[in-house]
Amino acid sequence: MRYKIITGDCEQFLKGEMSGRFDLTFLDPPFNQNKEYSMHNDDMLESEYWEWMNRVCDLVFKRTSEGGAIYFMQREKNAEFVLRALRQTGWTFQNLVIWKKKTSAIPSTKRFGKHHQIIVFATKGETPRVFNKLRVDPPLLANEKHRRPNGVYVTDVWADIRELTSGYFAGDEPLRFENGERVHKQQSPVKLLTRIILSSSNVGDMVFDPFAGTGTTLVAAKQLQRNSLGIELDPNNTSFIEDRLSQMRDSDNIQKCRNDYIFTENLNDIFPLQALTGKIRQTQVQTGLESYITA
Ligand SMILES: C[S@@+](CC[C@H](N)C(=O)[O-])C[C@H]1O[C@@H](n2cnc3c(N)ncnc32)[C@H](O)[C@@H]1O
Repeated sequence: MRYKIITGDCEQFLKGEMSGRFDLTFLDPPFNQNKEYSMHNDDMLESEYWEWMNRVCDLVFKRTSEGGAIYFMQREKNAEFVLRALRQTGWTFQNLVIWKKKTSAIPSTKRFGKHHQIIVFATKGETPRVFNKLRVDPPLLANEKHRRPNGVYVTDVWADIRELTSGYFAGDEPLRFENGERVHKQQSPVKLLTRIILSSSNVGDMVFDPFAGTGTTLVAAKQLQRNSLGIELDPNNTSFIEDRLSQMRDSDNIQKCRNDYIFTENLNDIFPLQALTGKIRQTQVQTGLESYITA
């Protein structure tokens, strides 16, 4: 499998010459909430920000294979903007996924505490080119007597994936500097990307992440034997991504989530087994990845 990480602006990249197609895109941009980014202004006018997102969604749509998918992650309060950006740029809505957080809700005196983030799943055309129906085995609820023999299908509420919080709960998955500081506060969990990639791509497909951050998408894609391409503005981040991909850490090893999906009918086709050494088994799939890399 091939992967490539490019340092630069995703919009510029997407406007450039490129002949390949993306089968799946994970879009996790900065949320415009005045967070500290060394090379990006996270305090844009709201209109300016959403015009930018529209342009990115449009460019990705044009580069996506027929039936290909996009997963656009955002704060729940921006749901209407995300849905509109995707609709206006030609995407067909499939699901509004509620990613329920494991840590405490953000309290408020004037509304319910916020306890989730949204991920909108949309496709190019009505019919997805791939949709693998994953089955999971959630713990029994108090009112349920018997465990289901084959688990249940994953729904649009994802309550089983822990976010990487800033506290010790985050465990050893977040990348850290030697002094223990997080390298990137917005690092997504590998379990999240594993679910998205398993659901909407097959082995050998091309996965794209225009806001690669710490490279979680590429880390999961590599292990699932998908090709991947990431764009990241900040060169410090891209060097972390290169290291993360070349020396796979135990905490990034997704074989630990294989058991979560054990009841999935086509699991062996979509989730390749990996040697226990953590080494990635190589298969030869003709990808044409070179044609993406013109910048
Ligand atoms: C929310 S983070 C993505 C986190 C990522 N999902 C992960 O698991 O690490 C957004 C990233 O987009 C990058 N970024 C901001 N503007 C960009 C642009 N115009 N092109 C490419 N990357 C950009 C930021 O540097 C930041 O690392």
